[in-house]
Amino acid sequence: MRNLINTVAASAMLLGVASAAHAAENVEVLHWWTSGGEATALEVLKKDLESKGISWSDMPVSGGGGTEAMTVLRARVTGGNAPTAVQMLGFDIFDWAKQGSLGNLDEVAAKEKWDDVIPTALQQFSKYDGHWIAAPVNVHSTNWIWINKAALDKAGGKEPQNWDELIALLDKFKEQGITPVAHGGQPWQDATIFDAVVLSLGNDFYKSAFIDLDPATLGGEKMKEAFDRMTKLRTYVDDNFSGRDWNLASAMVIENKAGLQFMGDWAKGEFVKAKKEPGKDFVCMRFPGTQGSVTFNSDQFAMFKVSDDKTKAQLVMASAIENPEFQSAFNVVKGSAPARTDVPDTAFDACGKKAIKDLAEANKAGTLYGSMAHGHANPAAVKNAIYDVVTRQFNGELSSEDAVKELVAAVDAAK
Ligand code: GAL
Repeated sequence: MRNLINTVAASAMLLGVASAAHAAENVEVLHWWTSGGEATALEVLKKDLESKGISWSDMPVSGGGGTEAMTVLRARVTGGNAPTAVQMLGFDIFDWAKQGSLGNLDEVAAKEKWDDVIPTALQQFSKYDGHWIAAPVNVHSTNWIWINKAALDKAGGKEPQNWDELIALLDKFKEQGITPVAHGGQPWQDATIFDAVVLSLGNDFYKSAFIDLDPATLGGEKMKEAFDRMTKLRTYVDDNFSGRDWNLASAMVIENKAGLQFMGDWAKGEFVKAKKEPGKDFVCMRFPGTQGSVTFNSDQFAMFKVSDDKTKAQLVMASAIENPEFQSAFNVVKGSAPARTDVPDTAFDACGKKAIKDLAEANKAGTLYGSMAHGHANPAAVKNAIYDVVTRQFNGELSSEDAVKELVAAVDAAK
């Protein structure tokens, strides 16, 4: 009896110790990966961390593109209760680093030689003042279209190579009685199309407009043409597009209700989740006129300054994210390319292989640009100013002429 009591007490003690250790190694992760495909990808990360003894407290904030998540984050940090790790894009990472809110990942980055394998385009956002402050998990890009293969075949099977061919294809989808463009009317989704439309009018034009914020380009004839193209595309969406979430728009293409969607390659996560195959059920291609160029965004996990007992879990998480096997497993499901240059493309489907290849080629050719719509071209204030004009114009509240004028003024005020 006595032995039994001792054994029970001893195991209780052991359990106590174990759970204390477990509790200490926990990450609370704020993110906006709430769609089917996104949640499946997140599960890969969660399971990976659990296998390393790190428990996961989930803090999802739905809303594609992360606008709502960033609002919740600000409230949490202002309240003195920062999450351990936060999904973040481009310039938002800088904003928090500037305020001195982020921790330091130099130790793990040096040990694992991140400098050698993470592309410079991503390092620009993962480092501040020479120190690693975030761990990039992927590279997405926004200048993609996702076409229903059966509808494309019915329309003659030819992938549109330029603007006129795109419009001809959309007209054919209309004749087929399906919604030509599956779209969700939310500012970040309108802006995602605008990324591609602006890029389709030239690499230099995109760079001058969104990276350099040149007033003459923002207010010029070509920008007016970009807005005219948006007006044209608007004629191909259905009546219920307003406010629709992006993954529901993807579902319209998946379920043969729509011809195509203009969206970043996180859309592929939805197709994969629905067991659809590239080349058979859907076609992925670059927005016509943007072949050879890539507008990228990279999801990174920024680590906030937390009490000492929590930093170990942050470093384990950062290391797990950069592990090459994890990079492959995660990005195959997410629809993105790996955040390291040394991850083989073997496990990726045709669209994933194309994403990896396009990225490497654009990087080499100097045609890799940060996505305006996804926070890789400008700080949030400028991005939001552009969103506002793009959305109002797309919804017919502004003519193209007025939109270019407003764009110049709004960007100037936000700079
Ligand atoms: C992007 C993000 C992607 C995806 C998408 C839709 O900003 O980089 O990972 O989540 O939003 O929510």
